[in-house]
Amino acid sequence: MVKVNKEKCIGCGTCVAICDEVFEMKDNKAQVKKDAKKDSECIKKAIDACPVEAIS
Ligand code: F3S
Repeated sequence: MVKVNKEKCIGCGTCVAICDEVFEMKDNKAQVKKDAKKDSECIKKAIDACPVEAIS
């Protein structure tokens, strides 16, 4: 299951730019949308693209 580590996230927004069907910004941190599809192909891209590896 995909998760954003809010301690690590620096709010760069890359994951939202790459995969806005799964990620959204809240209080300058990324979070996983409630109704997100957990098998979206862009999740892996977002994981690879996050500069601080906050997505797992
Ligand atoms: Fe945060 Fe990484 Fe997304 S820093 S906003 S989880 S790309």
